[in-house]
Amino acid sequence: MATEFIKVNPQIEKHIALIELNRPKELNALSRELMLEIRDTLRVLDEDDNVRVIILTGGEKVFAAGADIKQMATATAIDMLNIDQFSTWDQIKKTKKPIIAAVSGFALGGGCELAMTCDMIIASETARFGQPEIKIGTMPGAGGTQRLTRAIGKVRAMEMVLTGKFISAEEALQAGLINRIVPVEVLRDETLKLAREIAKLSPVSVKLAKESVNNTFNSTLDEGLVFERKNFYLTFASEDQKEGMKAFVEKRVAEFKGR
Ligand code: CAA
Repeated sequence: MATEFIKVNPQIEKHIALIELNRPKELNALSRELMLEIRDTLRVLDEDDNVRVIILTGGEKVFAAGADIKQMATATAIDMLNIDQFSTWDQIKKTKKPIIAAVSGFALGGGCELAMTCDMIIASETARFGQPEIKIGTMPGAGGTQRLTRAIGKVRAMEMVLTGKFISAEEALQAGLINRIVPVEVLRDETLKLAREIAKLSPVSVKLAKESVNNTFNSTLDEGLVFERKNFYLTFASEDQKEGMKAFVEKRVAEFKGR
């Protein structure tokens, strides 16, 4: 697995993997090669039984300043169609394990879209979110118009997408785009804390619950409720459910094995 543009620690702590974008000079611009590395890494981590939660970060200075503009600048529409670079992004959505984005500094364009494709976002007070593609003569192409609108509502998303203006971490919190704001020096620790909470639970239930929440965006309420109910029943096929309920009755901490 090539990792020239990202750093990967598959076991930063027990059951927790960390992916760090690593193109600091380009403000972690999301080149095609970088996104291929993310895709391949997520595939591997999703299949690794030792991994239960994945953290994706750009480090303390910048999350990502968007897709690589220099790489796209002279492309024709047919180049874009043939390269179909955003298809590599589908793996993020397909990943069954929870992915937490730890965002500090700019999360712009594809950077904002990358964070929003993750399941939760912890931001430092320096985080700035935006979809500035309109300012360079294009528009969001990796989910920005869809995920931002679902996350913060039509009028706020419309303003961001049509003006390209950035919002602060505080505004992002108020709008419901992120889970919380923490001081930059504890961003990694606070994200790990959340990851740890999830990593000690049943990986089977976590996977099914994540799938059910995400299904909200693709179904009517009735369809979503049926889907949820079936996933709920399915948890009863797991040893983890038996262990979880038995441990509750016996007043002890459950030990989940992911089976
Ligand atoms: N692609 C390629 N290179 C980028 C980049 C990007 N998205 N963003 C920044 N860089 C490069 C700059 O060109 C610069 O490189 P050089 O040192 O070689 O000149 C380096 O990173 C540092 O950037 P700046 O000097 O511009 O840093 P700054 O602090 O003055 O400004 C910024 C920071 C406001 C983020 C500014 O860099 C900027 O506006 N970046 C572009 C943001 C943007 O438009 N993103 C959307 C991209 S399109 C997209 O993402 C499509 C999609 O839907 C997926």
